[in-house]
Amino acid sequence: MGGNGFQPPVVPDPLDIHVPIYQLFGCLGEALDLVHPQLTDHHKSTAVIAALIADEMALPSEERANLILASLIHDAGAFGLKQRLDVARFDSEDILPHCTAGYQLLRGCPSLGAIAEIVRHHHVRWADCRDAPLQEVPIPRTSHLLHLADRVAVGIGHVSNPLSLGREIVKRIRDNTGKMLAPELVQIFEKVASRPAFWFDVTSHRIGSILDGLWRCSSDSCETVALSEIEHLFSRVIDFRSRFTASHSVAVAAIAEAIGQRMGLGDSCRSLRAAGHFHDLGKLSVPVEILEKPGPLTPEEISLIMVHPYHTFQVLRKVDQLNEITRWASCHHECLDGSGYPFCLAAEHIPMAARILAVADMFVALSEDRPYRPTLPRAEVIRILGYRAKNSKLDGSIVALVTHYFDELDARHRDVRKQLSASYGDFVRPLGLLSTRGTPPS
Ligand SMILES: [Fe+2]
Ligand SMILES: [Fe+2]
Ligand SMILES: [Fe+2]
Repeated sequence: MGGNGFQPPVVPDPLDIHVPIYQLFGCLGEALDLVHPQLTDHHKSTAVIAALIADEMALPSEERANLILASLIHDAGAFGLKQRLDVARFDSEDILPHCTAGYQLLRGCPSLGAIAEIVRHHHVRWADCRDAPLQEVPIPRTSHLLHLADRVAVGIGHVSNPLSLGREIVKRIRDNTGKMLAPELVQIFEKVASRPAFWFDVTSHRIGSILDGLWRCSSDSCETVALSEIEHLFSRVIDFRSRFTASHSVAVAAIAEAIGQRMGLGDSCRSLRAAGHFHDLGKLSVPVEILEKPGPLTPEEISLIMVHPYHTFQVLRKVDQLNEITRWASCHHECLDGSGYPFCLAAEHIPMAARILAVADMFVALSEDRPYRPTLPRAEVIRILGYRAKNSKLDGSIVALVTHYFDELDARHRDVRKQLSASYGDFVRPLGLLSTRGTPPS
């Protein structure tokens, strides 16, 4: 994948495993597109279009692989539903902030530097680029190609007549040649778009398997990435959407791991940490406007939130290597009395790791600001956890342990927030993502 990384320092982890980057990016893009029906499969469609143009250009395999991967997550920096929908309008303006945010999220992964650069420039207008020396770095041609593929993709839906839709899209692309889009690339696109199969592919309900086929053609298709890198990227994308959740997943990961260590769970603690990073992946389907709503939620909004662990399960289950982690992550709202969601599991079917995650999730959530209440004091957190254990929602033995080691876990939580602030403060502070109220004193 090439490229340079930067902060934060990565501590070698002897238990780290390598996971397939294409599958993980596919999961992330799919979760991002769950936020609105209009956006369904947008990242996959963009990747298919980009790959087909790249093939016409006979792009070198590493460049092609990076382009496909960048396409799969290119709008990860568009946090709100309004921003995602704005970005999906063909001629929307002022859409560069999400490129910068996406770049900032990605550049924390040392091995994904080249992908971060492609995302950083994926809406740079061709006309502005003639001043290339004014740019900080040369714009990769794959950024221009992603820009073109994305503008084609925003016009696509599952329609009954793909060819007439195709004619409209080609016209719109042609009208923007030399201004928004690079003429050389548009010329190649027109050649690709002259084949009916192109429009049948990009409007297909089987866009995922079409993309899988295109990815398998890449000689870099076995590319893997360290779980430690990718889990942190996921938690940043999930958490940085709102100041109320800015450190949530990373804190749940750390607290779940710490509880596991206190319980003597050995190597499983590593997987517990990963499950913490992934557990709220499905929350990407919840518009940030709901997460930040200051008042009571409507029944419809509640059901939108309740679906999130189900989405975590459905999206991640395709990654064989994460099998156990996925199961734990998607059970973090199950209750011992069977009243939890989404599977209403009975106690004997809720693994110990999922019970730990449920307690860690609640411990962290109660210690964070919410739009409708401030951070709760220590005694109140302990009282609520105890009440949930007494009512057979949470595991009483884990709650007892958390109560016993409360100060130690609380210090760990504060440390995590402090580290996050040190590593990403420049990024998250201007966005108001680390609130002063919930942030520990430095
Ligand atoms: Fe975009
Ligand atoms: Fe959750
Ligand atoms: Fe959570």
